[in-house]
Amino acid sequence: MVNYKDLGLVNTREMFKRAVSGGYAIPAFNFNNLEQLQAIITASSTLKSPVILQVSKGARAYANPILLRYMAQGAVEFAKSLGCHHPEIALHLDHGDTFELVKDCVDLGFSSVMIDGSSKPYEENIELTRKCVEYAHKYDVTVEAELGVLAGVEDEVASEESHYTKPEEVIDFSKRSGCDSLAISIGTSHGAYKFKPEQCTRDPKTGRLIPPPLAFNVLHEIEKKLPGFPIVLHGSSSVPQKYVDIINKYGGKLPDAVGIPEDQLRKASKSAVCKINIDSDSRLAYTAGVRETLANHPEYFDPRQYGKVARNYMIEMYEEKIKDVLGSENKLANCD
Ligand code: G3H
Ligand code: 13P
Ligand code: ZN
Repeated sequence: MVNYKDLGLVNTREMFKRAVSGGYAIPAFNFNNLEQLQAIITASSTLKSPVILQVSKGARAYANPILLRYMAQGAVEFAKSLGCHHPEIALHLDHGDTFELVKDCVDLGFSSVMIDGSSKPYEENIELTRKCVEYAHKYDVTVEAELGVLAGVEDEVASEESHYTKPEEVIDFSKRSGCDSLAISIGTSHGAYKFKPEQCTRDPKTGRLIPPPLAFNVLHEIEKKLPGFPIVLHGSSSVPQKYVDIINKYGGKLPDAVGIPEDQLRKASKSAVCKINIDSDSRLAYTAGVRETLANHPEYFDPRQYGKVARNYMIEMYEEKIKDVLGSENKLANCD
């Protein structure tokens, strides 16, 4: 049993409290490898932002659970070496689907976990979440739950339609499950194709898709029911056109990729939404860097040559999110 506090990590309680009252959101970035982790820590440390490092079940399978945990421990020291003397870094399980997985992460030193029972019937979701909360809280690990269904692929369950969170359920759910934060469905979805072309309009000049707006009315209803309670948005990549264009220019094929417009995320950050999940944008920036470098330099075969470019694109992307979208720059409790 490893306690996250011994690793220099923090849970999400204090960072969320400040984010809700301060009208900004904490970035929750997924990582699967060294370059993504380096980029996340470089951007968040330079800008003195709290940050949540997210590890999915798929990331654990890809990179090895033990290795990822030690990488997160190393991230705290890396942040300090970059001049961020009081980093606030949470290590979070993204989309945990069983009690056993949640327990394994708590025991390994995670400071925060998500139990995603959103595909289960309401009472089963409460029961599973409650069980995870009881275990995690013994070690002061915070728990995110989910109510409502996002469209797209989530936890290997593909859902054609999103089902918005029902505001009338959130009080009962949060009380009986004991969760510390709640992921809701208001129209975001996972991946780089968040909306089908028929759900969008098209810009007549550029031909690009313009997605429908998020359901802010649902968010406001939920906020009214649970004043000050931390709300989480999954599926919040904005799918920056500049990376999609680079990918398509250098041999990729991502037609009609579309994300959540940044102004909508900025608006959500100012509300009770205090955690915004971004994974796909990192994948896009990374792939853009790799494709561009290899296309321009067919003679390259050292992974550092293209890894460096990919990492720089990711740093640029993470910095833009922190500064211009989530508003978490200079929001460490102690910025010295
Ligand atoms: O919500 C899903 C995250 O983007 C993680 O994706 O399960 O492919 O690692 P993954
Ligand atoms: P995106 O696919 O929009 O990056 O969402 C990531 C996410 O919600 C991780 O849990
Ligand atoms: Zn998610």
